[in-house]
Amino acid sequence: MNTAIAYLNGEFLPLADVGISPLDRGFLFADGVYEVIPVYHGRLFRLAGHLQRLVNSLAAIQLECGLERGDWEALLTELVACNGGGNLAVYLQITRGAPEIRDHNFPAADIPPTIFAMASLLKPLPEAPYEEGISAITCADIRWGACHIKSIALLANVLARQQAVAQGAADAILVRDGYLTEAAASNVFLVCDGRLLTPRKDERILPGITREIILELAAADGMPCEERDLPAELLAGADEIWLSSSTKEIIPVTALDGRPVGAGVPGPLWRRMTALYQAYKQMVCPPVGV
Ligand code: PDD
Repeated sequence: MNTAIAYLNGEFLPLADVGISPLDRGFLFADGVYEVIPVYHGRLFRLAGHLQRLVNSLAAIQLECGLERGDWEALLTELVACNGGGNLAVYLQITRGAPEIRDHNFPAADIPPTIFAMASLLKPLPEAPYEEGISAITCADIRWGACHIKSIALLANVLARQQAVAQGAADAILVRDGYLTEAAASNVFLVCDGRLLTPRKDERILPGITREIILELAAADGMPCEERDLPAELLAGADEIWLSSSTKEIIPVTALDGRPVGAGVPGPLWRRMTALYQAYKQMVCPPVGV
């Protein structure tokens, strides 16, 4: 049985007891935003960045929920404590509430938003994808024009991931108008001629927190790095391709569309960056008592 404790609109309760109205606008319209925040040794990792992105997403969809940054922090800290700390993935979702009538217009101002959060165990990452790398496919990015918002409307992402799975691959790298954007649920990096490249931040991609950390670590380590528009043709000649996200960290892609990437094994810059990332995690989220 899942004994996880969740949060719903001011109350902490067993996840199994959470009930959300079928009229909730998240359910009917995907009218909401979310965050996924990793927790290591009971500490919320890069919380400030996640909360800033949440505040930006809420503002972008004009969803006012009256919680300040300190309130979010208190809520999430209590959720982590209720779930015993350790290593967790915290999921937070806010929707525009559940008015009595389904109508595309925003509901009346007195309809409260639905604020839901849950925590699940963050299992140790499986070894194979990191030792051998994963295979990915490229596919058309058919998402909307505001991918910088962490919207709960993820159908295009779901279809892209499933297209990869149906073709025996693990993930899908998305291409829009001839340029790389990101992957189904992660950002993308290339290594070309010793330089680390990633698409620049605009409305075509989610400003990933892991992406941000990688850029900081690369700069501190003197790794040449560029954020710019990346034509999809660069993929074919890339020495390394990585995907980054909060829950999967940095995964090397060693086969793309059935062809090996570089030497077909995780590359040296990936090894370097992964070591830097693990050291950074240890530094900012040390075991309790350290
Ligand atoms: N996804 N791009 C997309 C489309 C994503 O969904 C995610 C994260 C990222 C990486 O962002 P971050 O480094 O902040 O996790 C990029 C989360 C983990 C998810 O939907 O589960």
